[in-house]
Amino acid sequence: MRKKLIAANWKMYKTPDQTSAFFREFLPMVAGHDRDEIAVFPPFIDLPVAAEAVKGSNIAIGGQDLYWEKEGAFTGEISPAMLLALGCTHVIIGHSERRQYFGETDDTVNLKLKAALEAGLTPIVCVGEVLEEREAGLTDDVLRRQCVRAFHKLSGKKAAKLVIAYEPVWAIGTGRTATPQLASEAHGLIRSEVGKGLGEELARKIRLLYGGSVKPENAKALMTEEEIDGALVGGASLDPKSFTEIVKY
Ligand code: 13P
Repeated sequence: MRKKLIAANWKMYKTPDQTSAFFREFLPMVAGHDRDEIAVFPPFIDLPVAAEAVKGSNIAIGGQDLYWEKEGAFTGEISPAMLLALGCTHVIIGHSERRQYFGETDDTVNLKLKAALEAGLTPIVCVGEVLEEREAGLTDDVLRRQCVRAFHKLSGKKAAKLVIAYEPVWAIGTGRTATPQLASEAHGLIRSEVGKGLGEELARKIRLLYGGSVKPENAKALMTEEEIDGALVGGASLDPKSFTEIVKY
């Protein structure tokens, strides 16, 4: 009943020319695929090319980040309205790489989430524990804290479009995937936090994606779990063939 969302996070890969080449190959392979939603998140500079390429197709595009202010002296930042102007419908917020390397905090995630929803974008908020936290038995506490702080002063009504991606940091780019059971357990906890913070209705409807070394070989086992409503794919989304295999798991 929850339509799955299969999303490609390209991170800092591909120029505009490489983006065109990707879509030339990818579009015909997924044309007419309507079982799942598909969204691609290229670097900012590739968005105009990507938006042009996906026009009239079943593919949405989005930014990998945004800033919460409408405009101003914020060198290097991109506003929600700028993403909309380029044809974006989605945005990733609080990716662990932004948290690890660029000072993103639970509080900035909350500000970005509210700005994205206000602008009518579909936000994918990323949560997940690092290896030391998992090994210390702190996974549940970390996920709970990340959810509570992300949802601060937000209502279920306003958050109707929210999507959450569970990305255990130890599984990102490492080839180590969470088992479907382990991912399901984390999703169960996140869903219950959504229920507590944003209401049971949203908790039933919200899509919870799994991210972390999703590949053509493991996509089916993950995607057929009741609790997993899609994937946020890094490395394997850069190649049109392997991303197609994941979309069509
Ligand atoms: P990988 O699929 O390369 O592990 O990356 C996952 C990710 O971080 C998606 O946002």
